[in-house]
Amino acid sequence: MKGEIFLEMRGIKKSFGDQVVLRGVDLDVRRGEILVLLGGSGGGKSVLMKHMVGLLQPDEGTVTLEGKVISDLSERELSWARKKISMMFQSGALFDSMTVAENVAFPMQEAGVSDRDELSRRVSEALKIVHLEGQEDKMPATLSGGMRKRVALARAVVEEPCCVLYDEPHAGLDPVTGDSIDRLIRDLANEHGITNVVITHEMRSAFRIADRLVFMKDGLVYWEGTPDELKASKDPVLVNFVEGRSQDSDL
Ligand SMILES: Nc1ncnc2c1ncn2[C@@H]1O[C@H](COP(=O)(O)OP(=O)(O)O)[C@@H](O)[C@H]1O
Ligand SMILES: [Mg+2]
Repeated sequence: MKGEIFLEMRGIKKSFGDQVVLRGVDLDVRRGEILVLLGGSGGGKSVLMKHMVGLLQPDEGTVTLEGKVISDLSERELSWARKKISMMFQSGALFDSMTVAENVAFPMQEAGVSDRDELSRRVSEALKIVHLEGQEDKMPATLSGGMRKRVALARAVVEEPCCVLYDEPHAGLDPVTGDSIDRLIRDLANEHGITNVVITHEMRSAFRIADRLVFMKDGLVYWEGTPDELKASKDPVLVNFVEGRSQDSDL
């Protein structure tokens, strides 16, 4: 059901050597929402996101997906979670020696799908979702930055996940291309019922796409609320972040 808790994080602590990155994060992701994660660089957003799909395991605390604890599962047992949640990495790296279709088909082939008709049908559907129909045979090097991001997004949705995680999908894109990524994320939520968690530094995008925002600071959730609540906040920490970022992005 839309709005119920999809993923629950409780008391997540994570250190690398002496460096404490997460100090006890509590966070809920609700089904069907677009949740935006904000915070200063190096604050642990990417680390937190990797815990959502078991790419990292917490030192303490639990991650629960649809009622099932995933934070103590083995790599093998995690395949269940990986079918539900896919991640578009910060680099969004494509394999340059493979065509668009081969790139998009890659996760399915890794999962053991070998039927050619099924592969090509699902690749076409994924490309349609990101408005790149008919681009199957192109090589990534011939595409613009925005198109490459969309191919990476097609690869993230080809296995029909119910949740997509995006680590800085706007990075390196001009505002117009960034806007088209925002529309795609909204489409995935509104038309395909997909749950979305987005790390971004682009405040314009954050305000436009978010149902809810979470601001991380010092390894903890410092604030959470709606876009309207963030705009209305007088907390100097939040005001500085929002204004600083908005200046950066030349608004
Ligand atoms: N695998 C790792 N090993 C060691 N340190 C890491 C690792 N991943 C992240 N870190 C450190 O954790 C801190 C938080 O990183 P990150 O989550 O990437 O921040 P951001 O909020 O910018 O996404 C950084 O200081 C980073 O260097
Ligand atoms: Mg990061």
